[in-house]
Amino acid sequence: MKEHIRWTGECLEILDQTQLPTETIYMKLSTPEETAEAIYNLRIRGAPAIGIAAAYGVFLGIKNLASPTASELELELNRASELLLRTRPTARNLSWALERMKMCFRNHAEEDVLIIKNVLENEAIRIHEEDRDCCQRIGEFGAHLIKDGDTILTHCNAGSLATGGIGTALGVIYTAHDQGKRVRVIVTETRPLLQGARLTTYELKEAGIEVTLICDTMVGRVMRKGWVDLCLVGADRIAANGDTVNKIGTYQVALLAQYHHIPFYVAAPLSSLDLSLEDGSSIPIEERPEEEIVSGLGRRIAPQDIKIYNPSFDITPAELISAIITEKGIIVPPYSLRSSLTSGGN
Ligand code: MRU
Repeated sequence: MKEHIRWTGECLEILDQTQLPTETIYMKLSTPEETAEAIYNLRIRGAPAIGIAAAYGVFLGIKNLASPTASELELELNRASELLLRTRPTARNLSWALERMKMCFRNHAEEDVLIIKNVLENEAIRIHEEDRDCCQRIGEFGAHLIKDGDTILTHCNAGSLATGGIGTALGVIYTAHDQGKRVRVIVTETRPLLQGARLTTYELKEAGIEVTLICDTMVGRVMRKGWVDLCLVGADRIAANGDTVNKIGTYQVALLAQYHHIPFYVAAPLSSLDLSLEDGSSIPIEERPEEEIVSGLGRRIAPQDIKIYNPSFDITPAELISAIITEKGIIVPPYSLRSSLTSGGN
């Protein structure tokens, strides 16, 4: 697959994921507004990819200012950050990347504006490149958990389309596959926006990995049949106690996995951790427009004038998670991520 996030030096080029798998359309983003639109509408999505796009998006605002003073530059940095931050409130990587851009500005605020512009561009590029490395390391650590012949169930898309590299959950699968382990993947369709059906199956097929698509409602059935050896998902935000927010439906996959004694793993870079939160209860859960639920099959599929609830994410309690795979190593329960990270994982 051609790189789906590309910084040209002039603009950000992204693969419009809303058109996959039938159309491969790249689009150019030249302003923070265009970047915010692309993030909000899931043209680019997945927590790490959202963070990367937002960092470039902020820089686009700054780049477009002709001969600014340092304070005009700061005003634009704050304005663009506010705009981007509102798009997808759950992904920790979004606020994390914007905080990094602001910190970078503060560290160079006294310098010439041309230098400030330059370091901000380099910071966005670094956020992108670091994520590529994180995925690689997550893949290497996580592949130890996969045995030859395993069937892995994944939900949503935590693959290369969701990151700056090979992906988190799918990165583990790609690495195991590259090591010669025969793996099969069961992919949930992931209603309502079908990231599993449209994106994960597409990625895995391109990589030559055997994939079986199921509806979200079939998870219990395939587990009961003994077809699933382990579950592997990504994360949008992980609290200090290990509670993990990921795509809506992840919680019920984890509950079913526990009932069937199947290990349930989360793979995520440290940039998805929010150690300011004790547990998952205060993680903001994005709610999306009702149209995403009431339309399908090319038409409206529910009556008018009914109540609709469309949360995009749910919280999987830490006690359902067998291990968290990060770029620093595999963390096992009981989770106390603040101390695990100062001691370098286990
Ligand atoms: O709404 P999305 O498609 O952005 O949700 C994506 C997920 O839930 C992913 O599992 C998560 O962001 C991790 S991506 C490495």
